Amino acid sequence: MDTSTPVIRTYDLTKRFKRLTAVDEVNFEVNQGEVFGFLGPNGAGKTTTIAMLLGLVRPTAGSAEILGHDIRRDLSIALRRVGAIVETPAFYPYMSGIDNLRVFARIDGGDTEKSIPTILEQVGLEGRGKDKVGTYSQGMRQRLGLGAALLGDPELLILDEPTNGLDPAGMQEMRILIRRLADEKRKTVFLSSHLLHEVEQVCDRVLILNKGQIIAQGEVKALLSQAHALELRIEDVELAAEVVSKLDWVQGTTHEGDWLRIQVSPERAPELLAALAAHSLFPFEVRPVVSTLESVFLDLTNESVEGMDA
Ligand SMILES: Nc1ncnc2c1ncn2[C@@H]1O[C@H](COP(=O)(O)OP(=O)(O)OP(=O)(O)O)[C@@H](O)[C@H]1O
Ligand SMILES: [Mg+2]
Repeated sequence: MDTSTPVIRTYDLTKRFKRLTAVDEVNFEVNQGEVFGFLGPNGAGKTTTIAMLLGLVRPTAGSAEILGHDIRRDLSIALRRVGAIVETPAFYPYMSGIDNLRVFARIDGGDTEKSIPTILEQVGLEGRGKDKVGTYSQGMRQRLGLGAALLGDPELLILDEPTNGLDPAGMQEMRILIRRLADEKRKTVFLSSHLLHEVEQVCDRVLILNKGQIIAQGEVKALLSQAHALELRIEDVELAAEVVSKLDWVQGTTHEGDWLRIQVSPERAPELLAALAAHSLFPFEVRPVVSTLESVFLDLTNESVEGMDA
């Protein structure tokens, strides 16, 4: 396939359930080889979007393409090179990991069964493949789910909350596994999460969904730099705020006590201090505020909640 064709592309993808618009004219593209994070709080519409991409839910309006194929016309062709986990994958607890994968492989058809030993190794279950799934830990079951998604060597992995229910160590393992699949096996990964910390560490780009609508999208680094700020402890906070607000590269200010928070890239600190010095304003302390994706996300979702009330 042409590498410039997006692996996933949606066109005003929309799903309504009676009066609720769960997914509202959503547009995004996922490029080949990237790990793309689909982020949003509970009920944002993540699973509904994924279910539409996989043909489990029919869109009310709009459309999508997977690997260049329209999901309304060529779903089965589109999904031939896609592996997916939606919600927690179900296995037969009284059968071994290997036998469970065999069942999936048979549904898949072809000779995907031969790849089972390699897949078990990839997901770190070598040596446990013959044990019954009922004896697996949550983390092992989740990794077996990823193994099932890898059957047939798909180009694209669609993972709905792949770290759901895992402890921090299990999450870390899953994250490393996903990153490795992208970096070493050239897989494109589309994963949903409500855990910002997770997405921040594993994804190249993210999209933030809230109440069915996209509220931000872009490179993780770019989203984070937008949120960077400087804080100054200074005597005349009000005057300092007035002075810096006049600089056109300052996005805004807030203050509390003798601390002034200025929305600006920390790289601007020398220019900012020079501007203050020109008014004989000299801070006692200057510190950068490095936001996490989590705080960006909370800011954005709060804004859109306020927007709804207005
Ligand atoms: N079959 C359905 N019938 C009616 N409403 C539905 C249906 N499926 C989902 N919804 C609603 O659509 C909205 C989006 O749900 P969805 O499961 O896509 O959210 P999500 O982002 O995956 O949330 P979570 O993080 O909790 O998994 C919710 O308000 C949900 O109640
Ligand atoms: Mg969900």
